[in-house]
Amino acid sequence: MKTELWQVSYGEPERETIRKAAAIIRQGGLVAFPTETVYGLGANGLDPEAVKKIFAAKGRPADNPLILHIANLKDVFYLAKIVPLKAQVLMEEYWPGPLTLVLERSKFIPDEITAGLDTVAIRMPKHQVALALIREARVPLAAPSANRSGYPSPTQASHVWDDLQGRIDAILDSGPTGLGLESTVLDLSGEIPVILRPGGVSKEQLCESIGRVEYDPALSNPQETPRSPGMKYTHYSPHAEVFLVAGEPDNVASRVAELVEDYNLQGKKAGLLLTAEVYEKFKALQDKKEINATYVKNLGSRRELESIAHNIYGELRKCDDAGVDVILTETFSEQGLGAALMNRLLKSAGYKIINS
Ligand code: TXA
Ligand code: MG
Repeated sequence: MKTELWQVSYGEPERETIRKAAAIIRQGGLVAFPTETVYGLGANGLDPEAVKKIFAAKGRPADNPLILHIANLKDVFYLAKIVPLKAQVLMEEYWPGPLTLVLERSKFIPDEITAGLDTVAIRMPKHQVALALIREARVPLAAPSANRSGYPSPTQASHVWDDLQGRIDAILDSGPTGLGLESTVLDLSGEIPVILRPGGVSKEQLCESIGRVEYDPALSNPQETPRSPGMKYTHYSPHAEVFLVAGEPDNVASRVAELVEDYNLQGKKAGLLLTAEVYEKFKALQDKKEINATYVKNLGSRRELESIAHNIYGELRKCDDAGVDVILTETFSEQGLGAALMNRLLKSAGYKIINS
């Protein structure tokens, strides 16, 4: 299959391009498109055959359900059987935006979307291109992140191209995505709202709007089975092995330097994704003595989580492109967006933390 790559401008998506992409969706094809979180791989969410193609293109396990993307608030009422008051409060406050709500499914939802669960995940993305495509297609778009299953999510069209070229019909390219991490997945189908995946809207923000909200216990305990099927798979993982080095900047820098020297002796190549605080100190150590790292990136200050979140998936991919065997990065405060960042990093590292 030949994959088309079309540029679209963010502010005013070109009508003709959106029409071509929507036609592909309506004919049962696959189109990758930008959202404010990561690029999604879209298909007609009401067409079981089209939805199956998503799983095939990504190599996604069939028991991992998909999010339906809508452009019109009222669509929730036919996709979900019950829309609780708390859902309505959150829709009002955070849609369009990086919040996915898990609600009891209606009879219109194909089993392929929900992987047999009796709930459905729905969100309204905050991105003009995504909204224009959904409106023009006139169907909800089923869309997982547009990466090969298990690999870090795509935050640029080139990432989608690298992963799915030849397997999907088209890619709409409107530059890098904003947030860089996926939406928060909040289950509102039970008594107490439960965060199944931390993301762009923080627990603190949700509590402010609707009161009590809990994290799925599986998020902090890799031994428990998560309620969000997607969270149980190896995820967000580059090919290189990832370790998180924890501690104060001085200690992290010296530990990283030691580790890199060990890797060098073993003939392994290292990639380093360091915060500004650690980067400066590591560079100072490198000035004193030869320490060979194949790829070193200053991610910016520990305090600037937004910017780190925005760049992290792309940087993990760059380490792979540089051919490293091991990636060393850091741990972060789990407040606000930090919860989502740490969730992804822990998963990509298989929970391996080195204390410095
Ligand atoms: O930001 C995002 O959410 C991006 C963009 C493209 O919208 N999409 C995304 O989709 O991250 P995906 O498929 O990569 O992740 C969806 C997550 C998975 O962990 C999946 O298991 C969970 O949502 N999920 C979907 N439906 C669910 C349901 N009914 N119950 C529980 N978890 C569900
Ligand atoms: Mg994904």
